[in-house]
Amino acid sequence: MYSTMSGGPRERYPLPIIAWCFLIFSGLSSTHATITFTWTPSVVNLPENSANLVIVANINITSDTPNINSVVLTVTPPGPFLLIDNTPSPPGSSFIGQVILNSPSGGYLDYETVNLYKLTVSAQELLGTPVTSSIYINVADVNEAPTCNGVFSAPGATIRVREDEQPNAVIYRVPATDQDAGDTLTFTWLSVVPASGATRLQFNKLNGVIRVPATGFDYEVDKNYLLQIFVNDSKGLSCNGSVSIIIMDSKDEPPGFTGPASTTITISEELPQDTLVTTFTSNDTTVYFELVSPAEGFYIESATGKLKTAYQLDVDNNPLLLINYIVVRVTNYISKRSATFNLRVNVTDQNDNPPVCTFYNHIYTISEGAAIGTSITTLSCRDHDYTSTNNALTYKLIPDANAKFRFALNGSTLQILANLEYDSFALSVVDFQYTLVIEVKDISHTTNVTVMVVLTPVNEFDPSCNILPPFSISEDSPVGALIDAPVCWDFDYPLNNLRYSIISGNTDIPTPFYINPKNGQIKVLNKLDREKKSVYPMTVQVVDLNNDIAADPLNQRTSTVAFNIFVTNVNDEPPVCTPAFYEQTIYSTLAALQSVVQMQCSDLDSSALDLTYTIIGGNTNGRFVLSNAWPPAILTRSTFSYFTLGGVTDPKDFQLLVLIEDEATKADKTRRLSSTATILIHVVPWTTTVPTPATVLTTKIINVVDTYWKPDTWFIAVMVIAGLLLLLTIALISFYCWKSMPCCWKCCKPSQPVDEKPLLEANKMEELNNKPEDPPRKTQKDPINSERTRETPPPSYGFDGRAEDPTSGREYVFNSATGERRWL
Ligand SMILES: *[C@@H]1O[C@H](CO)[C@@H](O)[C@H](O)[C@H]1NC(C)=O
Ligand SMILES: *[C@@H]1O[C@H](CO)[C@@H](O)[C@H](O)[C@H]1NC(C)=O
Repeated sequence: MYSTMSGGPRERYPLPIIAWCFLIFSGLSSTHATITFTWTPSVVNLPENSANLVIVANINITSDTPNINSVVLTVTPPGPFLLIDNTPSPPGSSFIGQVILNSPSGGYLDYETVNLYKLTVSAQELLGTPVTSSIYINVADVNEAPTCNGVFSAPGATIRVREDEQPNAVIYRVPATDQDAGDTLTFTWLSVVPASGATRLQFNKLNGVIRVPATGFDYEVDKNYLLQIFVNDSKGLSCNGSVSIIIMDSKDEPPGFTGPASTTITISEELPQDTLVTTFTSNDTTVYFELVSPAEGFYIESATGKLKTAYQLDVDNNPLLLINYIVVRVTNYISKRSATFNLRVNVTDQNDNPPVCTFYNHIYTISEGAAIGTSITTLSCRDHDYTSTNNALTYKLIPDANAKFRFALNGSTLQILANLEYDSFALSVVDFQYTLVIEVKDISHTTNVTVMVVLTPVNEFDPSCNILPPFSISEDSPVGALIDAPVCWDFDYPLNNLRYSIISGNTDIPTPFYINPKNGQIKVLNKLDREKKSVYPMTVQVVDLNNDIAADPLNQRTSTVAFNIFVTNVNDEPPVCTPAFYEQTIYSTLAALQSVVQMQCSDLDSSALDLTYTIIGGNTNGRFVLSNAWPPAILTRSTFSYFTLGGVTDPKDFQLLVLIEDEATKADKTRRLSSTATILIHVVPWTTTVPTPATVLTTKIINVVDTYWKPDTWFIAVMVIAGLLLLLTIALISFYCWKSMPCCWKCCKPSQPVDEKPLLEANKMEELNNKPEDPPRKTQKDPINSERTRETPPPSYGFDGRAEDPTSGREYVFNSATGERRWL
């Protein structure tokens, strides 16, 4: 900005010079221009009450040059006029304008102030001399109404006049004026109440002065008058007002109270402001009332004597208002004599405040083990009402269904009345929360306080288990078979939340059992064998879970339960005889019912008495019986029969087969197992009392389990063919034997049953045939022979099995190792 100004003049210097030269030339050339003013109207009469913006005059200015530069209005004396330029496009050769009245708030024109204005319009051409033209505006007078001033016009004046005022004294002058100069006003009263006032009072209609009656006032007659007065100007315009004239008694009588009737008044608190308490009345009319000493909360209307409340009285906040002693004084205006009245105003307390507590909803966390009498909370409530009647509070507990009889109020203190119980389903549904509503009441208000008590668990109970019957499991149960589960429970919530484990009794290898930790079911983990171990004393530990606010394993409780698992028997062991093969040599002279062989049989899963023995084969001629003992002995039934011509001849070798079956006394015979013992008895048909001692033999214990076998058909076919071939072979051997050894037919009697023919090897037969001379001695005296027998027993003695020839149906014993067999 600064630099522009400093450089400007030099640069622009030539242009203003040219302009000024032009303007001077133009101005000189217009010196002879003629400017014409045309006013419409040429004479203006403007009423003094003209409206604002009214057009006062129009003016047209013309020039013979198009250079009218400025038009200025001058008003003398200064007045509310304004020149409006309505020229289409100034500047030019003409100017069209209007002078308007410009008094926005009115009242500028006043005939009585300025009644003539001079408007001068000055027009000037560029560089020309101003040319002026003037018109006069006559402000026309308009009549205005008189003005009634002060309280007279509204609401009305009040004049108090002593009764003993001087006659003709001026009481009142009606305050009225008129703007119109020289106008005269006249005063009339429209009404006088009472009407007697019109004759009593002196009223000058020309100046509006009211005077005391010429005879003076008499209070008995004149008490007060209400006058309504009109003020008219000469043109008929008017204003009006009223005046009340009160004549005051000036007698000596003092005023007195005629009300209220009672000196004690009772009102309620909290009444609205300005409520009438009582009204004081006096036997005097020209009096006013006042409170002798300012009484808090009350005021008195001095004219009417009405005692009212100054505000809404609240004794709760200001107990001083409960009893108010009020002294009211009534005073005569004129005599100033007065009287007082002592009034007591009782303000009663209302139950307008409900109980208020410091909290209305609160939640507490309490352990279920909290002791009876424990305080949970003490309500802090109060009632703002002042009197004890209204501020006394009572507390009432409203428990929810779960909390009934468990909590009690001791005054405003909530206490535990009975043991709290966490372990209930009903409480679990509501998240272990008791909801207690405490009603806090005054005589008419109720405030509810809700206290929520949330219980936390305590692990109170040990797990318990019932007294278990012995668990039993069959020894042939498969792996995974369920044995049983101890029945355990726990009263802490969550109920029966237990973990099971076996802590003793399950240490065998392989581990016999396992337990489901969740439900305690004990199952078979490995195969059992009653014959090895039949009773497992078990101890199961039960631990409760999550029954305390403290995390596991803190405060966990544990119990154990002991019981036995009995492995019950399944008949899986056949009877066993020791040995399974017996051999004995006896003399045929042995008496009847003498023991030949004492059997030694037993069964691992049956008692000795539960075994039955039956001779099922080889008992030719029924020469042997079983004794009644257990295990039984083979007894001779009678003497043997040899060398009897034409009679029965017993064989010399008996191959007795004894079937031993277990579970004889069980009703269910389907699981019976059996064995067969083979007893070979050689009978020496000789009369001797000393039997050949039995050769000590090493025998093999065999177990034969009889089982039902059903061969396939192809097997039967093969066996039939094999049988036929064997039959053919036997036939050929028999034929050969018959041809080469005729004695065979002498030895073997065709009439005898097949099983009566012992099929002994030749050397054995020979040995037996050689024995009859003196078998006991020979055995004793022939150490070579006995030693040979002990050390290298004949292969025929190593029989460990028995079978039936499928072709002939004959039975034979065999040695499974050497394949040697012997017919029975
Ligand atoms: C008295 O004057 C008031 C204005 O001051 C006017 O409104 C009223 O009409 C007048 N009363 C009569 C009766 O003219
Ligand atoms: C008003 O009452 C008072 C007290 O009773 C009495 O002295 C007085 O004369 C009475 N005044 C009039 C004007 O009756």
